[in-house]
Amino acid sequence: MDEITNPFTPGAGSPPPALVGRDNVLYEANTLLDRTLAGRSAQSMLLTGLRGVGKTVLLNKVRHMAIDKRHVSIIQLEIEENKTFAEQLVPELLKTLYELNMLTGAGVAVKRGLMALRNFIKGIKVNVGNISIDLAPLQGVADSGDLNRDLCDLMLTVADAAKAQKRVLLLLIDEMQIMAKDELNALILTMHKAQQIIAPIALVGAGLPTLPMNAGKAKSYAERLFLYPDIDRLNKQEAQAAISIPAEQAGASFTQEALDAIFNETHGYPYFLQTWAYNLWNTSPNPQITRNDVMRAKPNIQSGLDGSFFRVRYDRLTPREKIFMHAMARCEHSECTLAEVATQMQSTSSSISRIREQLVRKGMLFSPRHGCIRYTVPLFKEFLLRIQARS
Ligand SMILES: Nc1ncnc2c1ncn2[C@@H]1O[C@H](COP(=O)(O)OP(=O)(O)OP(=O)(O)O)[C@@H](O)[C@H]1O
Ligand SMILES: [Mg+2]
Repeated sequence: MDEITNPFTPGAGSPPPALVGRDNVLYEANTLLDRTLAGRSAQSMLLTGLRGVGKTVLLNKVRHMAIDKRHVSIIQLEIEENKTFAEQLVPELLKTLYELNMLTGAGVAVKRGLMALRNFIKGIKVNVGNISIDLAPLQGVADSGDLNRDLCDLMLTVADAAKAQKRVLLLLIDEMQIMAKDELNALILTMHKAQQIIAPIALVGAGLPTLPMNAGKAKSYAERLFLYPDIDRLNKQEAQAAISIPAEQAGASFTQEALDAIFNETHGYPYFLQTWAYNLWNTSPNPQITRNDVMRAKPNIQSGLDGSFFRVRYDRLTPREKIFMHAMARCEHSECTLAEVATQMQSTSSSISRIREQLVRKGMLFSPRHGCIRYTVPLFKEFLLRIQARS
């Protein structure tokens, strides 16, 4: 069928044609925004889930919800490995303060925000290129050189500036599992303080399932401070709706057998659903897509995924990490213990525990329960078994 009218959206953060199965989390995000706007204390949220389940899509959806509510100043970041959190945050805060400054009646609170930002840049020695703020110093605010204290001071001062304009701050932070421990620590501390004094700051973050553990290690009360919605694969009914609703809206359909076969192949993981539906749309001769079409297209779709989605992650591994990941794939279940992997590698748990740590740090593994490990990439085990069989 015509590629131009194809409604499906395999990609990173691309809004799906039908955003199904996420009503609860969107309801919670809406409550967070409304309570913050009403000046009430609210629990911020950290969305966690495997690769490709739709975390970034949700952050973008929350952004749109916030824009519709007006009175929300949005600071959106995607944490990058080679930059500090402060380096990424400062330009965004500056933009927000300038925007607040343009609103009528902006006065001393915005100026204080800019002064605090200037102090922060100097105190923490943030590398921000040629940003310069020509204002007199404001002593004692965000100028200690201690990240915990200064981030807290800075954010609360910017929140005051927002409040003076009858606005609230919304922090949207993606890939939070990459944040260094001291940065996460400072952010959690800031949100803790903000919650206690009911400062108008809401945080919706997203990250791999390692994030709750990282947050808990940074601050034990992080468990109570945030909601941790688990963004999971879609169930069968939701997965079918994700495909059949957009198809029907675009004048095509999938037979029930085709939908069953797609669910079997994708297990309801959103990125895979979009990829299968997108490819099937392009390769199917008729507007009614059948099980035969699915089976015929399967080898191409699978090798496409193997060569891109899975391969880019596999190629980032060192030879020893690859051996570990293959050994894990030979264990009976997707979730297994280090001892089981050690048996497969004819080694001992203690001698392979460093490789496990490296893989956790690289965002390839996480620990769903004490002593267990799992891949963060859905269906990675099946991919590894396929390449093992080929070699
Ligand atoms: N609820 C949903 N229903 C259908 N498709 C969805 C849904 N959520 C996301 N998708 C699709 O899934 C794909 C992955 O989404 P997204 O990039 O947001 O995932 P992610 O969890 O952020 O992944 P990563 O951890 O790799 O960053 C996109 O193609 C998107 O269109
Ligand atoms: Mg993402």
